[in-house]
Parts: sequence; C-alpha cells; structure tokens
Amino acid sequence: MGRRIRQSTDPRRGVTRAAIAPLLVAVSLGVMLTAACQPKEPPAPGSDRDKLIAQGKEIFFNETFSGNSRTCGTCHPAENNFIIDPAFIATLPNDNPLFVAEFNPDLKKNFENPRLMREFGLILENLDGFDDLASKFVMRGVPHVLSLRTSVESPQGPRTGWSGDGAPGDRTLRSFAVGAVIQHFTKTLNRVPGVDFRLPTDKELDALEAFMLSLGRQQDLTLPLRLRGTVPKRGQAIFLDNSLGKCNLCHVNAGATANFGGGNIGNANFNTGVESLPDQPADLTGELVPPDDGLGTPGDGTFNTPPLVEAADTGPFFHNNAIETIEGAVAFYNGDAFNNSPAGRALARGDPRGVGIKLDATQVVAAAAFLRVINALENIRSAIALLEESLEKGLFERREAKELIRRAISETEDSIMVLQGGGLHPEAVVHLQEAKRLAAKAAASFLFRRGHIRNAISAQRKAQDSLVEPS
Ligand code: HEC
Ligand code: HEC
Repeated sequence: MGRRIRQSTDPRRGVTRAAIAPLLVAVSLGVMLTAACQPKEPPAPGSDRDKLIAQGKEIFFNETFSGNSRTCGTCHPAENNFIIDPAFIATLPNDNPLFVAEFNPDLKKNFENPRLMREFGLILENLDGFDDLASKFVMRGVPHVLSLRTSVESPQGPRTGWSGDGAPGDRTLRSFAVGAVIQHFTKTLNRVPGVDFRLPTDKELDALEAFMLSLGRQQDLTLPLRLRGTVPKRGQAIFLDNSLGKCNLCHVNAGATANFGGGNIGNANFNTGVESLPDQPADLTGELVPPDDGLGTPGDGTFNTPPLVEAADTGPFFHNNAIETIEGAVAFYNGDAFNNSPAGRALARGDPRGVGIKLDATQVVAAAAFLRVINALENIRSAIALLEESLEKGLFERREAKELIRRAISETEDSIMVLQGGGLHPEAVVHLQEAKRLAAKAAASFLFRRGHIRNAISAQRKAQDSLVEPS
C-alpha cells in the first residue's frame, strides 16, 4: 500500500532474483524468494522495550495523524483478531470512520467501494500509484497483524502485505505505517502531507513497529504435534505429506516460509492462481474490480505466503477474500485455478503421477480440521497468557485487568467457534465454555477475581490437553 513513494528501482529485487537461480524447483514454481528466513529472537522483556510497545499500542489504536479520523485499529481491531470481516463490519455504527467514503463528500469517489467493503470486507488500495484513481486500484482483504515476527523478516528484507511489497521505501514494518497513513488516513484525494494528514514521526514508527512485532506468536510451531482426535491427526499427516497435501512445501510448520529440496528458503511469493478463480464474489456484483497483479509494478502475478496458524478464525481467505470458509480455502488447491497456475503446474511436474494437488472431500475436511485445531491451540495459548498477565495486576489496576480478561474471553469464543464449526473435540469445547464462564465471573468480581482466573486457566489447560498430548 502507499506504493507511490516507493523507489521505482529496487536493488533488492535484483539480489532476490540472483539468489533463487540455483533453486531449480523454486524457479519453476515461478516464485520470488526472500531467502532463508532467520526470525529475530524476541527481545527480552525490559522496561524500555515495554514502554515502546505501550506507546505503539496507544498510537495504533488512537492516533489519527490529523487525517480523516481513522486509526490503524479501525481496520485492525484487537477485539476481532486485528481484521475486519463483514460480520464485524455489520456491528459498527454508520458514523464509524471506516465508512468515511459514505459520509465525507471529499472521499465519496475513488477512495473506497462501500458496497464491496460491507458485503465482502474489501478495502481499496492504489498499490500501483495514485495517478489514475478511477481505474488503477485493487480490492484486498485486511490481513491480521499477528505473528509478524515470524512472517516478515528475511535476510533480503521484509515482506509485508498480500503481495509482499506493501511497504514503501525500505519495505520495513516502519515504512508500512507510512504507506497506510497516505493510503487510508487522508482527508481528501489530494493526499498532501501536512494538509490531508501528517506523516508519522521516526519515534512513532519505532513504537508502532515494536508494538506490531509484539503481537501473537513469537516463533513457529514444530510439526508434527502429538494431536489427539482421529481426523485432525490425519489432517496434519496430509498437510505434511509432500506427495499428497504438499502444504508444508510452502507453509513450513503451518507458518509463512517455504521449503524445497530440504532447505528453508524463507518467506516466498507464489502465483497460485487465486486471481483465476471463477465466480469471485466481488466480481459477481458487477462492480469494477480490476485484476490484481501481485508483487511489483507491473506485477508478476505472485502473492506472499501467509502463516496458517492464525487462519481459521481470520477469514475470509486469500488476498481478495474470495473464499469464506477454511474448508473452501483448502479445497481451492484441488481446483483448476490452482492446478493450472504456475505453482500448481510446477508441483505436477515434480510429481511421479503428474498431479499438482488432489485431495478428496474427506481429506479436504481433515486438512481443514488440522488448521482449526492449531488455531484453537494458539487461541488457548494466548488466552492463558492474557489471564496470567491479568493476575499480575494489582488492586488499583482493575480496569487493565478487566481489559485483559475481556480479550481472553474473546480468544476463548474464537476457540469455541473454530472447533464447533468443524464439529471437532466437543469435550474441549465444554472446557472452553467453562473457562469463558469463569473468566466472565472474574471480570465481574472484586474479591474473588484471582480465584476465578486461576480456575479459568485450569479449564483452558484441560481444553488444551484434550487437543494435544502434553509434550
Ligand atoms: C482502511 C483499512 C486499513 C487501515 C486504516 C490500516 N490498514 Fe493495515 N492493512 C489493510 C489492508 C487492506 C492490508 C493489506 C495490504 C496489502 O496487501 O498490501 C493491510 C496490511 C497491513 C500490514 C501487513 C500485514 C502482513 O501480514 O504483511 C500491516 C503491518 C499493516 N496493515 C499495518 C497497519 C498500520 C500500522 C496501520 C496504521 C498506520 C494500518 N495498517 C491501517 C487495511 C488497513
Ligand atoms: C506453492 C505454494 C503453496 C502451496 C503448495 C500451498 N499454499 Fe497455501 N498459500 C500460498 C500462497 C502464496 C497464499 C496466498 C495466496 C493469495 O492470497 O493469493 C496461500 C494462502 C493459503 C490460505 C489462506 C490464508 C489466509 O489467511 O487467507 C490457506 C488457508 C492455505 N494457503 C492453505 C494451504 C493448504 C491447506 C495447502 C495444502 C493443501 C496449501 N495452502 C498449499 C502458497 C501455497
């Protein structure tokens, strides 16, 4: 986003091309690589870092940069896993700044498409520049900003946004915020800094970066997990089987890095043919939705691999929100759009039977069940961390404690939804419902808060134990 201020020649892309030359399989997949991803160690908690994160949080949710009154949190709300989807959008009042295009005459045209926003959660972005607003734009879903520590860094530079080139300038998360302000915060389509918005300061960018990197998982899973449950277990095996599901080739450990021929080649871009899907919901409306050509200007048709641990509760799926359910997203890999894509054809060439990806219905559901379970496990991890943090709050920090408990409840609701949606692990769901009830009691209670929280944590652990054997 905000690619207008990106340099037109990017030396890094030259390096990138050279680096992939020896990786023949990868090249034949039509990928753009950023090479082996060595995620930075999470910094030790220290008061300076904590302060910076707290400042970043304040900016992310409250700073409007003197613009149209949107904040980063307008599209990345914490209470909805940092994404907006049609269900969440439907709960917002009409004067919410998300809808500026509906009530600010200066932004009525060529800023957003309100119909596509409300019906499909799509946001308008002028990724290829602001010179022809009426026809040069793409419509994209909002990605969560969780686990960025595992999915952005690579030795050849950061990859952000659905096509990996969302950040202007040096492509860092810091720069992403600059691009976001120019794209989404402006008061008029002139987009003049100092008039239509103000640009973030260096200090603000440091804080925003620290905050975003602190969100969600700080490291990748190590698969296979010792899962319980026949179907999710089978789904994990399919996911990891490089001659069946083949998912782990591009989403190593259900994360955002790729692995061909035994080596991790980092956070890669692929052309998997999502743009070729027939009957894309947004297209069916008859609204103008120009093709999205992915990375670069003009684009090479590739998109950046997202992490999957956070996927099940952050749909709709893919860069264009083309698919509503996680089962549907897995089934995508069976279709012609994928199997005729550069990535699908390359997989077929490397397959003894000449098959790209072909899963039958039971296998699609099993792979999706696996993605549901790892999502629930992540939500449980996060809920326990939030509840434990709330235990550290003193008598005079009730408001902070309640906020943490509220977020733990929302994570728990997601775990329940994600498991129930796949008819999975009813016994875990019972424990999670109990955990939610106890957390709600803790939030309402003055004297017994800690006791209820401890019980809620133990109910979360029981749920966890019914999903996976303790290691
Ligand atoms: C109007 C909605 C909207 C607002 C406001 C918004 N974003 Fe986004 N954000 C998006 C969309 C859409 C994308 C996908 C962009 C792309 O693919 O290039 C995105 C992508 C991102 C990503 C990339 C995540 C990844 O996994 O690569 C980051 C980081 C991000 N936004 C940070 C911010 C920050 C920081 C702000 C505030 C300065 C902000 N956003 C404000 C809609 C928004
Ligand atoms: C050739 C590399 C490749 C393979 C193989 C692959 N993926 Fe993907 N996956 C991607 C890319 C790239 C995207 C983003 C595509 C887009 O949005 O246009 C993606 C997106 C997804 C998404 C959507 C995530 C979101 O948040 O919207 C899901 C779910 C997913 N993949 C699951 C799977 C599963 C399950 C398999 C195995 C059956 C698999 N993938 C195999 C590269 C791959």
